[in-house]
Amino acid sequence: MKFEEPTSDNLFDRAMVIGKATPRIDGPLKVSGQAPYAYERHDVVEDQLVGYPLGATIGRGRITAMDTEAARNAPGVAAVVTTLDIDPLEISSFNNARLFGGNEVRHYHQAIAVVVAETLEQARHAAEMIDVTYEEEEGNFDLEKAWQNGLGTDEADAETGNVDEAFASAEVTLDETYRTPDQSHAMMEPHSSIADWSDGENMTVWTSSQMIAWARKSLAETFDIDEDRIRVESPFVGGGFGAKLFLRSDAVLAALGSRAAQRPVKLTLPRPFIFNNATHRSATIQRIRLAAGQDGRLTAIEHEAAAHEFEGGGNEENPTNLTKLFYAGANRRVKHHDVVLDLPESSSMRAPGEASGLMAFEIAMDEMAEKLGMDPVEFRILNDTQVDPMNPDVPFSDRNFVDCLKVGAERFGWSDRNRKPGDTRDGLWMVGHGMAGAYRGAPTLTSGARVRLERGHLTVETDMTDIGTGSYTILAQTGAEMLGLPLEQVTVKLGDSRFPASSGSGGQFGAASSTAGVYAACVALREEIARRLETDDVRFEDGNVIAGNKAIPLEEISADAEITAEDTMEFGDFQDDLEIGTFAAHFVEVGVHAATAEVRVRRMLAVCDAGRILNPVTARSQVIGGMTMALGAALSEQLAVDKPRGYFVNHDLAGYEVAVHADVPDQEVIFLDTLDPAISPLKAKGVGELGICGVAAAIANATYNATGIRVRDYPITLDKMLDRLPETF
Ligand code: MOS
Repeated sequence: MKFEEPTSDNLFDRAMVIGKATPRIDGPLKVSGQAPYAYERHDVVEDQLVGYPLGATIGRGRITAMDTEAARNAPGVAAVVTTLDIDPLEISSFNNARLFGGNEVRHYHQAIAVVVAETLEQARHAAEMIDVTYEEEEGNFDLEKAWQNGLGTDEADAETGNVDEAFASAEVTLDETYRTPDQSHAMMEPHSSIADWSDGENMTVWTSSQMIAWARKSLAETFDIDEDRIRVESPFVGGGFGAKLFLRSDAVLAALGSRAAQRPVKLTLPRPFIFNNATHRSATIQRIRLAAGQDGRLTAIEHEAAAHEFEGGGNEENPTNLTKLFYAGANRRVKHHDVVLDLPESSSMRAPGEASGLMAFEIAMDEMAEKLGMDPVEFRILNDTQVDPMNPDVPFSDRNFVDCLKVGAERFGWSDRNRKPGDTRDGLWMVGHGMAGAYRGAPTLTSGARVRLERGHLTVETDMTDIGTGSYTILAQTGAEMLGLPLEQVTVKLGDSRFPASSGSGGQFGAASSTAGVYAACVALREEIARRLETDDVRFEDGNVIAGNKAIPLEEISADAEITAEDTMEFGDFQDDLEIGTFAAHFVEVGVHAATAEVRVRRMLAVCDAGRILNPVTARSQVIGGMTMALGAALSEQLAVDKPRGYFVNHDLAGYEVAVHADVPDQEVIFLDTLDPAISPLKAKGVGELGICGVAAAIANATYNATGIRVRDYPITLDKMLDRLPETF
């Protein structure tokens, strides 16, 4: 089925299941420990061995020798495979770094060996016995240095109007530079796989992946085997945030270990290995210039940014993406530099581009509002746009950012705040309020599903994944709605390459795309039922198919034999002529300790505009998760680069500080009741990435309001404010 044009179809206007607050149907399995994650799948295949990886301890160079004799003779060891034993594996079309093979070391903790043994302890013990000799090369690990040295005067990536003239004649201007650090996904479940490639022919990989079809294709390309001979399964994923979009070394090493030992091998990447072995979000440096008239209308916007990428490309952190679209303004220039460094591979992390871009841009907007003497909410309302400002012929399909701002200001009590920075005290705490806007695109990807109706029970099968997001639940709701069944009469099976290929989970396209795929399959099923009843006028309600004045229970229709249908939703070209986005306004209250500069977030409110909200429970969960992650980004998260040696020093969860429960205050989320007729037949957009966007800047702006100290370099840690605190407390 193809979604050809914005839909006025009101199929879901009388929605019974879609849009209802529904606890996640996989919840009981998860809280009772019965949802099988990749490393726990003891029962899928017998005789599993355990693999343990070894990582390079240089940032760049080559391996001249590896002595594995002691390891091979260690107790319990079944196989040792080193990177010198095999030719460099292909770099698959979804990867940027080679995952194994050959003597070249391109980044710290690149996998250079896997030891397979009867137990984890034996494998780890033996791995430590491997003696590696390196020839180290000097690498380039310093983004700041590259920025300071100048990145050339390349042409702008996008430009409209006459920016220089607009700045020259502007009444009010701003020119500031902001920094965001390298960040780690730090998802709870480490990268883990069980691989069975015992016969060297057919490969089964039970793994933790956001994208089943991509994983299978990557395995096929990496090992040069036919996709038909590979099966990938990932029914439960303990978080991904982009880290599990692409094949990683866990699956590669498990597969190589399995082939060598001729037994299935399970392998998890130890937490201290993940930060340098797998991907991360690149640090960014962003110079932002704004120009406006005294009336507060932006006349020019310039955004120049740099982030680092691995040689071979692939960095997704382009902070200037949003700058082309978010606010009005006739003159605009954006330029992004991907600087090649020898650090581990940077790649997609939750809202790549927008997350770091808004961390900077929404501080700049706050600073500009202050220069103009305007309320920052008013300033944003004044500069709203309903069209792509660089291509005014392209409208937004549905944009209600102004409503987000107004509803949020009202709900938060924004007008009561003290506009004067550093002027509100609550005992030892300086209290401040801040806000920020948020934008994130809403793409869709082709997505398929199969549905089976048997004795009135519907089973949905698709290779879609649920990375903690609620896919199981919203797909069950979609199936139930389409067939007029209660939710209990729907089973959803996900994450198996034997099922029709879906969008997978990423780019906040999963919810919109995969529900559309299930919708398409259900339409096909409804048509099949209508055909069997020899009519084309059927409705599905209360467990019945209603044809004319007859109500036939679906249980009866599918009593003798299962009725199946399969289809794939494709999204039409018309979406190219529209900007489809999601929007939010964030409001935050912080307290900053007058003696220590410790920042505590006290209150958070998000108002989101993302089309139909398929399930307010799971959608809220996505947004508060994003807000929490952004709280960490604002105040504590930072991968510290060892610039001479080229690695992330704080590579565990003790040194890389994500927000924990005690950091998180009451969070409130309001969804505007909107529909986007251009996104899909369900008119629903994703919120999983919107939730992280803009929040950190709202915290930064609140911190400024509390203290009068402007920090433009994340995270906002104590040391950056301590010497600027007021004298008395
Ligand atoms: Mo996302 S960063 O596409 O999982």
